[in-house]
Amino acid sequence: MLSEVLLVSAPGKVILHGEHAVVHGKVALAVALNLRTFLRLQPHSSGKVDLSLPNIGIKRSWDVARLQLLDTSFLAPEALSPTCVCLFACETEQGDVTAPTPEQVEKLKEVAGLPDDCAVTKRLAVLTFLYLYLSIFRKQRTLPSLDVVVWSELPPGAGLGSSAAYSVCLAAALLTVCEEIPNPLKDGEHINRWTKEDLELINKWAFQGERVIHGNPSGVDNAVSTWGGALRYQQGKIASLKRPPALQILLTNTRVPRSTKALVAGVRNRLLKFPEIVAPLLTSIDAISLECERVLGEMGEAPALEQYHVLEELIDMNQHHLNALGVGHASLDQLCQVTRAHGLHSKLTGAGGGGCGITLLKPGLEQPEVEATKQALTSCGFDCWETSVGAPGVSVHSATSLESRVRQALDGL
Ligand code: MEV
Repeated sequence: MLSEVLLVSAPGKVILHGEHAVVHGKVALAVALNLRTFLRLQPHSSGKVDLSLPNIGIKRSWDVARLQLLDTSFLAPEALSPTCVCLFACETEQGDVTAPTPEQVEKLKEVAGLPDDCAVTKRLAVLTFLYLYLSIFRKQRTLPSLDVVVWSELPPGAGLGSSAAYSVCLAAALLTVCEEIPNPLKDGEHINRWTKEDLELINKWAFQGERVIHGNPSGVDNAVSTWGGALRYQQGKIASLKRPPALQILLTNTRVPRSTKALVAGVRNRLLKFPEIVAPLLTSIDAISLECERVLGEMGEAPALEQYHVLEELIDMNQHHLNALGVGHASLDQLCQVTRAHGLHSKLTGAGGGGCGITLLKPGLEQPEVEATKQALTSCGFDCWETSVGAPGVSVHSATSLESRVRQALDGL
């Protein structure tokens, strides 16, 4: 068991195309975002496991001795063989991984000891932590005393992969502290990443965490957060996009809350109710993702304006499809109209129903025009960031390499 402090970060994501369709086996194109979740894990000997999540006001503590007495066989350790984690289009092994069942989640609720009126976001964050802690350490004779703090730049529940970044940080830190994977940070280094094999293990566990939170996620969010960059994802097969252009986007949070789980269930119900109508929509979204991948591949380092126009057309078509799937929202319509008035094209990203949208920024766009668009979006009550995409995946940091605002947030200052 490691004894040093671990500092880990993982990025959020935006889906360029393929949200919802990916749940039904279609392709999604996703990119890592320059907004990250940070985790500090401190092993100690207090006999407690402490979890602090300052963004959502969680501070919990459990006695290790009590957790040690639990019969954790309900976590089905043998069920956690490889799944959905192959990088670069290797064969997908379905293995015998099972999603945490409602019965298992009920048992975890007893362990968590949360009040009945605890908000669902808080409850799921705590259950995910306990699930990963108890599962990853189940082979250890004694459970470790730990102090874990997780703080994020990502707004929760906005479709930017905040829950996946949380699960990825937890999986990476817990696997490292129990020496299931080595700490890749060498003396004197500021930042480093794990090997491909270690990342596969991190991604596998993070996917289990995502299952506690979302029930039946596709796995795309934790994959992007683990690997970073730009990915094509389909049924657990992950491939890095070759030479993607450095896209600039406006990322807008409508601040309308929604539940990914409910929206995913809504699309499933619509597919069951109108298979002849909805299945072709999903097929068309798949074709949009493939066309986008082709165009991005051709853009390289010297993209032509004409190629940006194709990307814009694809954005518009997909946004209409997503509306037809029932995951649009008045706030997202407003976002599209406002940016359209400035000659820009937008679509929702993630689960929809509110949450976030992305707007493609073309090269040569004058900065005052970008500022005017941001201003117009802000005056609708939205939060708006101009950002690039393609950030590195889960990483381990030295304390001095973290910005002081991040260190302060982790220290609860
Ligand atoms: C959520 O970021 C993306 C969805 O496609 C759900 C999933 O892939 O699990 C809506």
